[in-house]
Amino acid sequence: MAGRGNFSSRLGFIAAAAGSAVGLGNIWKFPFEVGGGGGAAFVLIYLAFCFVLCYPVMVAEITIGRATHLNAAGAFSKLGFSRFRFIGILGVIAGIMILSFYNVVAGWALGYFIEMVMGNFAIGSQFGTFITNVFKVGAYGIVFMAATAFIVSRGVSQGIEKASKILMPTLIVIILSLTIYGLTLPNGSDGIAFYLVPDFSKITFEVVYNALGQAFFSLSLGMGALITYGSYLSREENIVTSAALITLADVGIAFLAGLMIFPFVFYQGLEPTGGAGLIFVTLPGVFESLGGAWGTIVGSLFFLLLSFAALTSTVSLLEVPVAYLVDEHKMKRGKAVWGMAGLIFLLGIPSLLANGYSEFFSSFITYFGAESSNSFMDLVEHISSDSFLPLGGFLIAVFVAYVWRKENWMAEIENGAPGFSETFLAKYLDFTLRYICPVILGAIFVLTVLSRFFGVNFFG
Ligand code: TRP
Repeated sequence: MAGRGNFSSRLGFIAAAAGSAVGLGNIWKFPFEVGGGGGAAFVLIYLAFCFVLCYPVMVAEITIGRATHLNAAGAFSKLGFSRFRFIGILGVIAGIMILSFYNVVAGWALGYFIEMVMGNFAIGSQFGTFITNVFKVGAYGIVFMAATAFIVSRGVSQGIEKASKILMPTLIVIILSLTIYGLTLPNGSDGIAFYLVPDFSKITFEVVYNALGQAFFSLSLGMGALITYGSYLSREENIVTSAALITLADVGIAFLAGLMIFPFVFYQGLEPTGGAGLIFVTLPGVFESLGGAWGTIVGSLFFLLLSFAALTSTVSLLEVPVAYLVDEHKMKRGKAVWGMAGLIFLLGIPSLLANGYSEFFSSFITYFGAESSNSFMDLVEHISSDSFLPLGGFLIAVFVAYVWRKENWMAEIENGAPGFSETFLAKYLDFTLRYICPVILGAIFVLTVLSRFFGVNFFG
């Protein structure tokens, strides 16, 4: 469609979609979810969710987007099912909520980059103080949101695509090097054992739903981000192989991040259950141990690239509401971008204060039947990422399988993959979207809401 913009190449689309997927979710969140979820058992469940449940949903999202060349809500109307627009609207809301807290953490990463440049390795043990310095961290947040808005305002191929193509490979190289370094350290192998040898007694229902929320979050699924990106994809591209590459890249990098971090955690005698501070507390000491200039270089580079990984993700989060405003409300792109960015930054302020600065926001809510309170930031995350994303995935699977129907979505995929509908993969996707995704996602969504927010526990 003229005027809306397109990715200029297949690699560009994959780089941008993988750039959206790979972010703080992989390098910051995945390791601490693994740490809190008992290690290898969590990893296994996570991997199963990614390949069995999430991959089909990813194909479904991209296909909806490419078939309509419209934003997450408009796409449903264009297919002739306006009653299902609410799925896209839900996605727009989820995107706004996720970006509001995600930007706060991205600000931490950016701040750590500056600390590393200045050689302040002690910042690891001062993490708690660092995040309560809300004026400083807030300023980093403003810089980050502005950078995001700048890229989104430049549009798809000039902004999003160009940045992703260079940054992703560099990040992989540095993580690989750090992983190899970690393996040479004393006690490093204890970290690997924690990470890779499953202890099934650690699997609780909470571990299962955290793994599901994490899988959706990490793959950028369930809120129409990939409907939106798919809408800039040309008809010749092969959706199923693109989605496979995106999934593999994302899962691969999360897996590597775990392999990198746990040897460091055990080497320093820290607790893998360290929560949201895990990488921020652990890594500066590691960089210091590299010695002087090396430590400064590797440390700065690491947090710089982490910031960039976060940036290609925040870009995709902002793009969802922006595309919605541009397509559906005929707003000018520039106005939509800067207005949304400003609004989301403001909505993120309570999350910024929720990490120790404000008592009120830091222990904001105690769910029914829960023993301890959750911060405002936790609450936003639990609602948006752990609840809305699996719900969105459920709705998208049901929509594609039962409303849009097989012959139509298959036909759209066939545009770039002639003969696809005859393959085994096509039958597998049809089967999972019809039966597996709706049942499992629907059940886990309901059970998650009941157990997390209302203290109803079915599994002891
Ligand atoms: N996937 C990103 C990460 O792992 C976060 C993200 C970007 C996201 N866009 C999204 C999550 C859309 C859900 C939906 O850091």
